[in-house]
Amino acid sequence: CLTAAFFFPLSSSQSWNGDHEEIERSQFPNGFLFGTSTSAYQVEGAYLEDGKGLSNWDVFSHIPGKNVNNENGDVAVDHYHRYLEDINLMHSLGVNAYRFSISWARILPRGRFGDINLKGIMFYNKIIDYLLQRGIEPFVTIHHFDMPQELEDRYDGWLSPLIQEDFVHFAEICFKSFGDRVKNWTTINEPNYTAKFAYMLGIFPPSRCSPPFGNCSVGNSDIEPLIAMHNALLSHAMVADLYRNHFQPKQGGSIGIVVAAVMYEPLTDEKYDRQAVNRAFDFHLGWELDPLVFGDYPLEMHQILGSRLPSFTPKEKSLIKGSIDFIAINHYSTSYVKDCFHSDCFPFEARRINGYIGTSEMKDGIPIGEPTGLPGFPVVPTGMEKIIDYIKLKYHNMPMFVTENGYASLAKQNVEVHEMLQDFDRIEFHKAYLAALLTAIRKGADVRGYFIWSLMDCFQWTLGYGTRFGLYYVDPETLNRIPKLSANWFANFLTNTSSSG
Ligand code: NOJ
Repeated sequence: CLTAAFFFPLSSSQSWNGDHEEIERSQFPNGFLFGTSTSAYQVEGAYLEDGKGLSNWDVFSHIPGKNVNNENGDVAVDHYHRYLEDINLMHSLGVNAYRFSISWARILPRGRFGDINLKGIMFYNKIIDYLLQRGIEPFVTIHHFDMPQELEDRYDGWLSPLIQEDFVHFAEICFKSFGDRVKNWTTINEPNYTAKFAYMLGIFPPSRCSPPFGNCSVGNSDIEPLIAMHNALLSHAMVADLYRNHFQPKQGGSIGIVVAAVMYEPLTDEKYDRQAVNRAFDFHLGWELDPLVFGDYPLEMHQILGSRLPSFTPKEKSLIKGSIDFIAINHYSTSYVKDCFHSDCFPFEARRINGYIGTSEMKDGIPIGEPTGLPGFPVVPTGMEKIIDYIKLKYHNMPMFVTENGYASLAKQNVEVHEMLQDFDRIEFHKAYLAALLTAIRKGADVRGYFIWSLMDCFQWTLGYGTRFGLYYVDPETLNRIPKLSANWFANFLTNTSSSG
């Protein structure tokens, strides 16, 4: 289904940040994984089919006003029924890996308070088997934002330590059911963003805000994001321990966690802004990764948050330290950082829980990179090289995978479909980011894979279906998948030795 559309020329005005090397697949290390990424709630649909229980996102998306146009993932892009077709699309691209997540409520409709839904297990078995038949390695995220609503109702989800037991129960079922064939596991997708969106800004379920952020009626403590992250980290550590002791020895896979990794640059050259960059890393990236690698939160978090920061017992520290085999990095963009300790800056009230930093896309009125269809996600290819360098240096060059990188375009009204299919910008984006990634690898970073977000247009959480990241366009009426030029480019990159276009 790949057409000759690939041969549209790219004009020079469409290349970002000056020249970059024309890259080829063969320049990446042997065995490098090239794949596409999705998540269960964003693509599956079938939200009440075959015994699935309600998830927090099912419930949240049905509350008027939560998502753009009140859109929801009830049907999403119907991957539940079209997974064979979707895997065939991936095969036609030539990818050797696929990152997807498992819907917790499809496997355990009521968490550990009810039975296993065998039809849910069958669904993922079919996906995994067909992927392997097509030569595509499954790269599985156990939890990607959606959890059984029952766990929210019973004990407030990530705010309770009880979640640890539930997460271990769920993960154990995944290892038992799929671990004979799945060798790449990540436990939790972006807990640093869940903490921020769900417990600080209140825009993801369970819609809790931490004053002075957000505007919602529940959640009234600025330690909730810290507690949510703490429970997520402990849940991860318990699952990693279970895997290593009971499954890894026989199954031989590896386990990591996914972090949302923004690159930071100082807004000015002044000392305080440069220091604020370090705080930004500590309060966003180090918050999640430091405990997993070093056994505790960053020192600056301790200094600024004091007793508000939950602490790990010695036993927990030894459980959590070293509990990842690799770091899975979701990287899209770079932000300017401004110090809010010594000067007023918006949001000035953003004190403790974000380390007194403000972020901006602009410096002297000039954006840090070309805007995309998603505010806060400007195009800054050099950020890819820099964030990989940063993680490499700080975390001892542990194996890394880029599990998400992608370009958002906005479906505007009155834009013809054929225009959306000609996504030259997305092609240039991936070429430039891949070139930057290659530079980091050549400098010694142990990066082992790169996944494009996303295989196809899908449900973009609160932004609904209008923000489109896909290599495949999904027709809103028929849900037919139509390759964009970027799909043709990626296939050409993956299957030919020369990828210049
Ligand atoms: C992060 C999330 O993991 C994914 O679900 C989301 O759609 C993309 N980034 C784009 O925002």
